Amino acid sequence: MNPPRKLHIKSYGCQMNVYDAQRMVDTLAPEGFVETASVDDADLVILNTCHIREKASEKVYSELGRLRAVKDEAARHGRHINIAVAGCVAQAEGQEIIRRAPTVDIVVGPQSYHHLPQLLAHAKRHGRALETEFPIEDKFGFLAPPQPDKIRARGISSFVTVQEGCDKFCSFCVVPYTRGAEVSRPVTKIVDDVRRLAENGVREITLIGQNVNAYHGEGADGRIWSLGNLLHRLAEIPGIVRLRYSTSHPRDVDDSLIAAHRDLPSLMPFVHLPVQSGSDRILAAMNRKHTTGDYRRAIDRFRAARQDIAFSSDFIVGFPGETEEDFLATLALVTQIGYAGAYSFKYSPRPGTPAAEMRETVSADEMDVRLVRLQELIDSQQSAFNAAAIGNTVDVLFERSARNPGQIVGRTAYLQPAHVMASPDIIGQVLPVRIESLERYSLLGELATHPNARAIQGASSQVAPSRMIPPQMTTGA
Ligand code: 5AD
Ligand code: SF4
Repeated sequence: MNPPRKLHIKSYGCQMNVYDAQRMVDTLAPEGFVETASVDDADLVILNTCHIREKASEKVYSELGRLRAVKDEAARHGRHINIAVAGCVAQAEGQEIIRRAPTVDIVVGPQSYHHLPQLLAHAKRHGRALETEFPIEDKFGFLAPPQPDKIRARGISSFVTVQEGCDKFCSFCVVPYTRGAEVSRPVTKIVDDVRRLAENGVREITLIGQNVNAYHGEGADGRIWSLGNLLHRLAEIPGIVRLRYSTSHPRDVDDSLIAAHRDLPSLMPFVHLPVQSGSDRILAAMNRKHTTGDYRRAIDRFRAARQDIAFSSDFIVGFPGETEEDFLATLALVTQIGYAGAYSFKYSPRPGTPAAEMRETVSADEMDVRLVRLQELIDSQQSAFNAAAIGNTVDVLFERSARNPGQIVGRTAYLQPAHVMASPDIIGQVLPVRIESLERYSLLGELATHPNARAIQGASSQVAPSRMIPPQMTTGA
């Protein structure tokens, strides 16, 4: 038997890249690849890239420079390292990567990961391999499912892709070009995946897609199911105690999704609903296909269904033509809605998108100032939201042992990390926690019912800083 080959995979960007990286690992496992945390002993290094903003895509070329040195050093010792570029930069700049980076052996777009074994064989025979087509076959039918030991090692919370691509064509966004047209996976496939995860200890599922609430997959009954229908079905699977979904578009909030929030206790009351701008003039230039009024009405419908629901969003400042007045309208919308958190970005022109041709650009200095002003407002809302948890008893799904000995960390319904002193037996359970204090972005508390519960006293300063909302939401919508 051949010794195992080692695979090192580095993901940038959104949750879908994290998920795709796991699918690539699972697909290469039958080829004899095992994962390694270091590039130095890897036989294959995959960079799973992000193209959403210029800064994200530039990282690829600097990382490739570093990898070339590692590859050359290995070659001096008679060892060949294969280097593959996957993800959205591979899709958008395939030929360019081949031209600019001779060290790269394989370029593979997001719709072709199931062809990785063949691409490796091709690269071995012919030197280099490139695949950035959108094949007609469903890649999910060919990607290997994770083995039970892999599922267990990955923890109690898992992503599942239900939808990929986007047909909205916002004028600033590369996603429709890099991930392609909107495609939904059939309901039975998703149910099988979730059941398999649940049987191996997963308790929380986040359904992901670039425009997840545009989901329209085929059901076993031959009809087209919406995301709300799908959530109702998944909520029946034994073992799944929490459901989430990301990222949503305001225009695709339909009644079945609202009903799911009203009817399903396991559907968490925390919705990421990007609006991008609070100015109707800018929303039109962005080709968002919704107004601020539409957005507010969507928020109101969620709130009417479940009053404890909270929201996060994405914002872009400095879109071409954005005036001070437009920007003030964004601040006004944030004030009016009141977010539990949000991401904000400076507009970054992306080659091939309509907005990149717009001439009325906002200066870099002005963008910096607006970003700071917006982030200050969002931070103040986030701090107030977190502080409001103190003194309350909230449900926490426990995920893992924390860095501090004896501490276990989990997340509230709103993805806030919460730490308690307890036995690791509680991992995988949802338990009530009385929140006592807030340390940076982490809540500290005491199990409300556990007989062995001990309060954390004086330990708060040792809690590792972590963000309230995981830094990687799914890119899109
Ligand atoms: N420039 C800046 N931000 C962008 N986003 C998408 N494209 C761009 C761009 N060209 C942001 C949007 C989106 C999030 C994932 O990234 O806010 O919701
Ligand atoms: Fe689609 Fe979202 Fe990109 Fe708009 S911002 S094109 S909705 S992925």
